[in-house]
Amino acid sequence: MIYKKIITYGTFDMFHIGHLNLIKKIKEIGSEVIIGVSTDEFNEEKGKKCIIPYEQRAEIVRCISGVDLVIAESDWDQKVSDIRKYSVDCFVMGSDWDGKFDYLQDLCEVVYLPRTDGISTTEIKELLKGFSPTFKKDFNNMFNILDTLRQDLM
Ligand code: CTP
Repeated sequence: MIYKKIITYGTFDMFHIGHLNLIKKIKEIGSEVIIGVSTDEFNEEKGKKCIIPYEQRAEIVRCISGVDLVIAESDWDQKVSDIRKYSVDCFVMGSDWDGKFDYLQDLCEVVYLPRTDGISTTEIKELLKGFSPTFKKDFNNMFNILDTLRQDLM
């Protein structure tokens, strides 16, 4: 272990392998892991609409082995107070945030870890948009076929 207390923040909506990989990498370098999960209200402030509500997103992250504490992230400025409050010695974010949190370097180590390629919640949401009309059509077709069969049998 390199760090004693390590913290990261994220939305973790529609929890996927990219989220898990990041948490696994964090666990490799820190002995106590704190995760800030952003609230639904904070996400709306950021212009993000979550599919899964905060309580469920937080519960999923809380149940991952090696995660010691989940806290709610409700505004941009709380990172400084959290780092002080929990005596954090390392702050981690995925590389999509590269450089954005360097101002925290006065308080602790700031590390950007590589993202997992090819997956993001935004992409999953886009894919679902594409799927849903076909799904509805297929479902209706299947329902019509079953209904015809039912009428034939009567
Ligand atoms: N993350 C990652 N690899 C991915 C997706 C996310 O390492 N493929 C990391 C992000 O860099 C972030 C953390 O997981 O540090 C939480 O991600 P989140 O805030 O939920 O964002 P995304 O899953 O990228 O979702 P979105 O598309 O909504 O930004």
